Amino acid sequence: MRTAGAVHAIIDTPPGDLSITKGALLAADLIVIPLQPTGADVAQMAETADFVDAVRRETGAPAVVLLTRMVKGTVAARTIRETLEPFGLPILTAEVPQAQAVGMVYGQPVNDLGHYATVLEELKEVAAA
Ligand SMILES: Nc1ncnc2c1ncn2[C@@H]1O[C@H](COP(=O)(O)OP(=O)(O)OP(=O)(O)O)[C@@H](O)[C@H]1O
Ligand SMILES: [Mg+2]
Repeated sequence: MRTAGAVHAIIDTPPGDLSITKGALLAADLIVIPLQPTGADVAQMAETADFVDAVRRETGAPAVVLLTRMVKGTVAARTIRETLEPFGLPILTAEVPQAQAVGMVYGQPVNDLGHYATVLEELKEVAAA
């Protein structure tokens, strides 16, 4: 995507309306699928992966999964990478742990990227590859 004056643009997509999501995916140079290690997110993954695959056949843009709200020491965090293997999408090494600061930042300017700084570095590497 080319945006005057900006180096990168992030398009967040809402749940529910697949036409909006499809428009965003078609415009994307890199598709990031945030996923929480929950049954609900995993249950949706088959549909998401199919949808992303269909768009990627048109654009060839890389797609990656970003694990968020990870809680150290839990079975869910330990097993999620293996659980997602059948979907065949690369999973970023960088993860976002569950953090109260992330939950409280809603509507505020963000000055400290926290763990998202590591995510950003890895995304830049994937985009440049
Ligand atoms: N407390 C938290 N710690 C770490 N990551 C969080 C926390 N709360 C939310 N996130 C992550 O931040 C991102 C945005 O959270 P949000 O609650 O807006 O979820 P969402 O999936 O975008 O929901 P919606 O469909 O309503 O837009 C998600 O990837 C979520 O996993
Ligand atoms: Mg959202």
